[in-house]
Parts: sequence; structure tokens; C-alpha cells
Amino acid sequence: MPKIAVIGAGTMGHGIAELFAIAGYEVALVDIAEDFLKKALQNIEWSLRKLAEKGQVKEDPSVILSRIKPIVNDVCKAVEGAELMVEAAVENIDVKKKVFSEADRCAPPNAILATNTSSLPITEIAEAVRPERKPLVVGMHFFNPPVLMPLVEIIKGAYTSDETVKKIADYAAKLGKQTVVVNKDVPGFIVNRILARVNEAACWMVARGEATIQEVDSALMYKAGLPMGAFILMDYTGIDVVCFIGDAMLKRGFKSHPCPVITQKCQEKKFGVKSGEGFYKYPAPGKFQWP
Ligand code: 3HC
Repeated sequence: MPKIAVIGAGTMGHGIAELFAIAGYEVALVDIAEDFLKKALQNIEWSLRKLAEKGQVKEDPSVILSRIKPIVNDVCKAVEGAELMVEAAVENIDVKKKVFSEADRCAPPNAILATNTSSLPITEIAEAVRPERKPLVVGMHFFNPPVLMPLVEIIKGAYTSDETVKKIADYAAKLGKQTVVVNKDVPGFIVNRILARVNEAACWMVARGEATIQEVDSALMYKAGLPMGAFILMDYTGIDVVCFIGDAMLKRGFKSHPCPVITQKCQEKKFGVKSGEGFYKYPAPGKFQWP
């Protein structure tokens, strides 16, 4: 059975690992601590049972789960014999470069090294690998929650080959996803770049007292037809992630006017669902419930 390595077992990483396991791949799932991996496997198990209840997976959840092998802090071991790595570690360029450099040393020569980064340039990340690997470095950007969201953005960095893009599109098709190829490695790619503008507009309306959080979210959901309003989606994504994406895009030339309603939440560490409170309150940290 082909092997995939997923680096980072957080919100995105565990969902990506789950998707590949559902599609029949052996998955090596890496994180820096055993506790994180334990939590990730619990989340995957919960999600698989949900999907099984609805007849959306063909195999027994325990069979799918048995294809995921947790590995503590060893990228080299995870990528050994893997045909693809998907990195979903923290949004820190130094951490990502370290993962890519290690993966480059240990993965088979033809293995593709993909990143699920939300906002960091693929070309910058590719600088961490040897020249012969650079055409195999690509963005494979999933959306939260990966098992339910239909889109994958495939981002071409300056060195990414067309063949690599094609292979990622094939993997995405095997996972049942639609793809959009992002040909220019611009800050925020397509989705996060547009979402940043929506969030900014929503946030400034609230900051200026023109509308409440609930009014903005209701308008976006019940008139604009979005599945979640801007504020509840920021809570769902993690307001810390939203702030990070905003900073990373600003540093790379995206013109924006950071809004205090968002930055204040970050300073207060009210990150949304993950901390139990953001723009709305939740029953417990990590437990989503519609407000
Ligand atoms: N696995 C399996 N089932 C899940 C699940 C998961 N990970 N997450 C939720 N579900 C289940 C729920 O338990 C619920 O099951 P039930 O019917 O048995 O009660 C069912 O899915 C429906 O969930 P909800 O009732 O909570 O609500 P919705 O019908 O609204 O669906 C949603 C949830 C699919 C998340 C929908 O609200 C949605 O599409 N929201 C927008 C999400 C989005 O835009 N994500 C992208 C964010 S941007 C991003 O990720 C980029 C990154 O770079 C930051």
C-alpha cells in the first residue's frame, strides 16, 4: 500500500491524515509530542464514526484508523519510503524549512514534498531543499475541516514542475476533492486572500459601530449564502491563525488595514472554538456548537 507522511497532527494535519487513510493509503502522522498524537487519533476516530453513521465511508472506522501510524518528532522516519509528504506544521517559516530540509534528506528522490501552508510562500519554503528536489515542492492547501470541505488549492511556487501539479491533482481526485491551480505564489493564494478582505470589511463595520457581529454574520449567512458568517468562521478557523495569516500577508506586500476587533481577541488569547471563546462562547475548548 502506498505510504504518505503527514507532518503536524493539529486541526488540519489530523484531517488530512484521515482523508488519505480513508482513500486507502498508509499514513505516517508526526507531531512533536505523544499527547498531541493521542488527541489527533481521538479526533480522527470521532470523525470516522460520524462519517460511518452517514454511510460516507465504506470500511469500518477501526480498519481505516489502523492505517495511521503515529510517530513522535521524527520527520526522517515518517518520510522513509513515502511517495508524498504533506506538511501541516505550525505557520512558522523556520519550522517549515526545517521540516522540508529533513524530509529532503530522507525521502525517496522522487517523493513530492507538499505544504498545507495558509499564507507562507511556496518558493520561500522550497529554498530549504536541494536544487534537484525544488520541482517537487508544491502547495497542497486544504480547508477546515479537511474531510468535509470540497476544495484543495494547488499552489505553484517558482520552481514547481507541471508534472508535480498534475500528480497533486491526481491525489486530490483520489481524496474526492475539487482542485484549483494557483499559478502565482501570491500572499494568501486565492481563498485566504479573498477571506482576508471579507474579514477586514466585517471587522471594520463592527469597529465603527455600523453593525453588530450577529448582524454581519446573519447577513452573510442568510443573504450572501455563506455556510458561516465571517466572525463565526474566524472562531472556527482559530483567530490566532487569522492573525498569523494577516501578518504574513502584510509582511509580503498585501495592502490591508488590520482591525482592532480581531487583533484584540488575539492579544486576549480568545482564539475561538479552540479556547472556548472568541467572538462567541462555546461549551468547552475545542467543542463547536452553533451560538
Ligand atoms: N468530521 C465528520 N463530521 C463532522 C466534522 C468532521 N471533522 N465536523 C463536523 N461534522 C459533522 C457534525 O458533527 C454534524 O453531524 P450531525 O449531522 O450528525 O450532527 C454535521 O457534520 C454538520 O455539522 P454542523 O451541524 O455543525 O453544521 P453545518 O451543517 O454547518 O456543517 C461545516 C459544518 C461543514 C463546517 C459548515 O458549517 C461549513 O462549511 N462551514 C464553513 C467552513 C469553511 O469555510 N472552512 C474553510 C475555512 S478557511 C481555511 O480553512 C483555510 C485555512 O488556511 C485557514
